[in-house]
Amino acid sequence: RKKRSYVMAKMAASLAGSGEDAFRRIFKFYKGRQPPPDFSDVIDFSKCGQIPTKLNPAAVSDVEGARVGLRPLRDWRAFSLQGYPGFIFISNPFRMDCQAFWIRQCLKTYTQKPNVCNLDLHMSPSDTQDIWGKSVHGLRFPPSGKGEPKTLLERLRWVTLGYHYNWDTKTYSASHHTPFPADLHSLSLHITAACGFPEFNAQAGILNYYHSDSSLGIHVDESELDHSCPLLSFSFGQSAIFLLGGIRRQDSPIAMYMHSGDVMVMSGQSRLLYHAVPRILPALWGHTAEKMEACSLVPSLQDTTVVEPVSQEDWMVCSRYLQSSRLNVTVRQVLGPGQCFPETPSSHQRTDKITDGEYGKRKRSSSCDC
Ligand code: OGA
Ligand code: MN
Repeated sequence: RKKRSYVMAKMAASLAGSGEDAFRRIFKFYKGRQPPPDFSDVIDFSKCGQIPTKLNPAAVSDVEGARVGLRPLRDWRAFSLQGYPGFIFISNPFRMDCQAFWIRQCLKTYTQKPNVCNLDLHMSPSDTQDIWGKSVHGLRFPPSGKGEPKTLLERLRWVTLGYHYNWDTKTYSASHHTPFPADLHSLSLHITAACGFPEFNAQAGILNYYHSDSSLGIHVDESELDHSCPLLSFSFGQSAIFLLGGIRRQDSPIAMYMHSGDVMVMSGQSRLLYHAVPRILPALWGHTAEKMEACSLVPSLQDTTVVEPVSQEDWMVCSRYLQSSRLNVTVRQVLGPGQCFPETPSSHQRTDKITDGEYGKRKRSSSCDC
C-alpha cells in the first residue's frame, strides 16, 4: 500500500511539474518532428464526411459577396462540429483568384502605418515604414548564401489593426486606436451575416505571420469586452493544424487542418474555447497559392468592387513569400453596442503568441526577430 501511494504521488508530482496535460501533450505531439506525427486523426473539412451546417442564404447577395471576393453563398461549404456549438468552419468561400487580393493586403497594405507591428517595438518609425517596399528586392532575389539579413517581411510576426491589442497588459484601450481597414470590415460582415450575426462590427484585428517552424501557444481570446460577438479567423498560404480544446486549459483538443482561404467562426459556446496552432504544414496540391494568379475580375463588378486586381509584379512577391509562410487574420468586435472601455482596464487574458523553433523558446519574446 505504501509503495503504491508513493508511486502515485510521484506520478502526480511529475505531471504537475512538467505541466503535462492532455492539451499540452497533443500540442507537442503535432509539433514534434522526430518521429513525424500520425496525422490520421486530423479533421479535413476540404474532404467529405463532415457535418454540413446551414447558413442564412438571404444574408449575402451574390453581387455583394463577389465585391469582396466571395463565391455565391449557396456554393459555400460550411460545417459544424458535434459538441462545439457556435463553431463554424467555412471551407474556402473565396472566388477563384480573389485570395490574391487579401494576401496582398496582408503583406503590402495592412503592414503600413498607422497599423502597429512587432518590428515597431525595436525599430524607429522610419525603419518600419514601407515594410513591403523595403522587402521586395530581397524576396525577388533571395541571397544564395546564409547569413544574409532577412527582409522586414520575413521578420514580421504580427500586425494589429483598429483597437491595437497590447501584448503586455493583454487589453485593448480607447487611447490606442486607428481606423480599421474598410475592406476587411466589409469582408468580415459578409461572413458573420451569413452565420447569423448581421450586427457584427469589426473593431480589432490581429494578423499573424507564420513560417514553417512557427507555432501559436495554447490560449483563449478573452480580452474583448463583449464575448457574445463572434471571433473570425481567415487563413492564407501554407496549411496548419488547429487544435480546438475546451473551456479548461487542460481539456483534450481535437485537431483540424486549416488550408488557404478557410474561414473559422468561433461564436456562442465556442467563443471562449482554448485553442492553438502547433504546426505549419506544406499546402497540399489543390490548396496551394501557386494555383492562384493575379486577380482578374469580371468587368461588371469593376465599378463597385472592393477586391482590386493584383499586378503580376506584386503577386510574384506574395507567392514567393507564401512558399513557406502562412497568414492568419483574426477579426474581433471589442465592444458591444453602446459599450465603453472601463476606467481601469482589466488584466487577465491571453499570454501566448507565435513562437518560432522549439516550443517555449521565444514564448514571450516573439515581439521581434532582430
Ligand atoms: C489568434 C489565433 C489562430 C490561427 O490569433 O488568436 O488563434 O489560425 N490564431 O493562426
Ligand atoms: Mn486565438
